[in-house]
Amino acid sequence: MVISIDSPLDMHLHLRDEEMLDIVAPLSAETFSGGLVMPNLVPPVTSKEDVRSYRERIRKAQGEHRFIPYMTLFFKSDYSPEFLESVREEILAIKLYPAGITTNSEGGVSGFDLEELSPVLGVMSDLGIPLCVHGETGGFVMDREAEFIPIYEMLARHFPDLKIVMEHITTKAAVEALDRYENLYATITLHHLYITLDDVAGGLLQPHLFCKPIAKRPEDREALLKTALAAHPKVMFGSDSAPHPRDKKEAPGCAAGVFTAPIALQGLAQLFDRHGALDNLQAFVSDNARRIYGITPIEKTVILEKTPWLVPEIYEGTVVPMFAGQSLEWRVLSAE
Ligand code: DOR
Ligand code: ZN
Repeated sequence: MVISIDSPLDMHLHLRDEEMLDIVAPLSAETFSGGLVMPNLVPPVTSKEDVRSYRERIRKAQGEHRFIPYMTLFFKSDYSPEFLESVREEILAIKLYPAGITTNSEGGVSGFDLEELSPVLGVMSDLGIPLCVHGETGGFVMDREAEFIPIYEMLARHFPDLKIVMEHITTKAAVEALDRYENLYATITLHHLYITLDDVAGGLLQPHLFCKPIAKRPEDREALLKTALAAHPKVMFGSDSAPHPRDKKEAPGCAAGVFTAPIALQGLAQLFDRHGALDNLQAFVSDNARRIYGITPIEKTVILEKTPWLVPEIYEGTVVPMFAGQSLEWRVLSAE
């Protein structure tokens, strides 16, 4: 059996910089038509020059593959209206991190004081720049996302014209919030559709499945699965593929992030096939994002075939993918 996906999009992607960028950019660019590139570099992407030069580095690293890096800016509450207007054409969204909540987010927002955030959010709303949010509080790790929902609701209510994307949702609570506000959207990763906390820490600790937000309970995964498999119109695929060198993962103080870029489409095909939902894969992995973000991606036809495929143990001796050394039921036959 073969299926064809038209211009797959990864609407939440970490490409990093330097050597890691050179390793991972071609892997996304090979099978995806475009990706929303996260700005949490060190230092983060906060100026027009940062955006432009990072885009250039990505384009260089992606090689011959046709791929659009859709750029983001790291949210700062002191951006001026003039700056936002001038950077509008360079970016697709602005990404907001609570300070210190995950990798390289130290310069993020503390406290969620509406008065402090409103000037920038108001201008973003006026200019039609979507806000992508890492929605976790500093509370108990399993409750962080659910505790953040009232903040999403406050933002959605105060800025009804601002598109707010709840990134990498992991809970039933977030799924339920989606339908309460017209301007709330969400991305869902591959790994949160497959795993629960049990897969991370229920047996021997699995550092390559450790990420933020941490995988939750079976009922949460069920809610995510139901939403993704139905290709809920307000939900998009965003891998949150977050590569770290192997020695930073297989270490005390394991870095958070699951590297899924090179196995994402195969993993999605397997999942949607197992649940009899292959007809909805196109919408989940491309059409919804086109509509929500109003983008027209590069045309790329990806043919997937239902044939066992052995996932590499490691890429370039550096970065270990999800399902390393395991067999997936689908492989990419061609992408052009
Ligand atoms: O697990 C994660 N890794 N979650 C994030 O939010 C950031 C990411 C990273 O950049 O490594
Ligand atoms: Zn991320």
